[in-house]
Amino acid sequence: MAYSWRRRRMYALAAKIPGPKGLPIIGNVLDVVGDTEETVRKTMSQFKEYHPTYKYWLGPLLLVALTDPRDLEIVLNNYKYTDKSHFYDVFHPLGGEGVFNAAGEKWRRNRKIIAPAFNFNFLVQFVSVFHAMAMRLVGKMQRRADGQSFDSYKLIELCTLDAIAITAMGVDVNAQDDDNSEWIRAIRRCFQITRERLVKPWLLPDATFYLTPDARDQKHCLSVVNKFAHEVISRKKAEYQRDAAERTRLLKDDDEDIGMRRRQTFLELLIERSESEDGCALTDNELRDEVVTLLIAGQDTTATDNCFNLLMLALHQDVQEAVYQELVDIMGEDPSTCPTYNDLNQMKHLERVIKETLRLYPSAPFIGRDLDHELDVTDYRLPAGCTVLLGLYGTHRLPEHWPEPDKFDPDRFLPERSVGRHPYAFVPFSGGPRNCVGQKYAMLQMKTILSTVVRHFQILPGKDCESMEQFRLQVDFSMTVAGGHNIRLVPRDKGVPERARSL
Ligand code: HEM
Repeated sequence: MAYSWRRRRMYALAAKIPGPKGLPIIGNVLDVVGDTEETVRKTMSQFKEYHPTYKYWLGPLLLVALTDPRDLEIVLNNYKYTDKSHFYDVFHPLGGEGVFNAAGEKWRRNRKIIAPAFNFNFLVQFVSVFHAMAMRLVGKMQRRADGQSFDSYKLIELCTLDAIAITAMGVDVNAQDDDNSEWIRAIRRCFQITRERLVKPWLLPDATFYLTPDARDQKHCLSVVNKFAHEVISRKKAEYQRDAAERTRLLKDDDEDIGMRRRQTFLELLIERSESEDGCALTDNELRDEVVTLLIAGQDTTATDNCFNLLMLALHQDVQEAVYQELVDIMGEDPSTCPTYNDLNQMKHLERVIKETLRLYPSAPFIGRDLDHELDVTDYRLPAGCTVLLGLYGTHRLPEHWPEPDKFDPDRFLPERSVGRHPYAFVPFSGGPRNCVGQKYAMLQMKTILSTVVRHFQILPGKDCESMEQFRLQVDFSMTVAGGHNIRLVPRDKGVPERARSL
């Protein structure tokens, strides 16, 4: 009875929201099955056509897409809507009950425990790790710097995997030199299976997914990933106990700085908090969930964003030259010096490029929340039981907030041009209490990698990436270019950079 009243109320409220026409019973399912590029293209054009709000039906499921920054603020800035949509369940096998997936009280507790690992004082120690990984990347890129087009993602995803594995667990998996170890194959296969589920809606329900051979494959790969994680946790815990006496001596010396330097990784920080008596103790399974969550949340997002940045620099040689000159001014001619935290802070031009790239190509183009009760947004009352999709991609291209929205113009982020902009008009890291906990980490990592690459190479556009209009966007974990983030490289030590030319 209550159910049928709720459904009737849902239909009544949904009828007031515009949206593309669907078929009886299945609704708009045909718009989202099949070719992912086509789905993305259709979704993007629907965002433009119906913005700021539109609805569509996937069978009995009602989805409402919102792009108005005021509506994003209403949803994101409210503790009532922190629980994620059931679409995120596909991340559970990998991330378990880690902070990305957890709901309610469990999420609040996890977030409180892991938040201190993301303050600048702690993150700053990672800059030298990011630089070492970026230099490995430069080594790999040097072999590709023959003017031929190649997909930068294939190199960069291994670089960001190296970086996140060291900073999260303190283990150098050296994916850039050997991407064939059992652990790397297993974690990449888990990523791939999760991606597949995200773009094939019929694999989203466990009931259908667990009938497929991929489910058996996932089970095997997860056992490899978990065994490795538990081994690392045991080792780090033993090290923590062994070093306890030394740590007490250093802390007695009242030198907090030394204490900070000794704390090397996210895992060590979490172990330390687990051993403390402030109610933050995590079991080994919880430690596993948090560490693997950081791998999932921090690897592909930064990999794709680094790739999009290289593409933007390749397509805008004047911007690239200005970025390069700024880097030379800050750090001098030697391209291999490690940036200090202050150097990174001074890279204002590069920072604007990264922000503008995140505006145009946010790694997470939308965010989902399930509503368990009705919600008033600017123009509509949204029914209980619907899924809200916050369309960051659409918000970032609203002409009323971003004149000439499809144009790449990093100077939009100059302080004087940002005055008065709605705080939720630019939310690549989401907003409110459930925003991205890793955003400072991401900025430091991307600035270090990109500055190191730009100081070594001039970047030119590669095959099928000679203009932004050519990009065929697709979305799974993150937004990517189907067909590759293709660039060409010319070493800068070969003299005057070549002018951008077509292939
Ligand atoms: C360019 C890089 C990145 C982008 C664009 C990005 C974007 C986002 C977004 C949009 C969310 C919210 C998702 C939602 O609510 O549905 C999120 C959450 C999260 N991100 Fe990031 N992220 C990036 C890098 C990172 C990194 C490097 C880490 C960790 C090292 C990280 C860790 C997390 C975690 C743990 C959450 C969940 C927070 C919570 O639910 O409380 N992210 N990220």
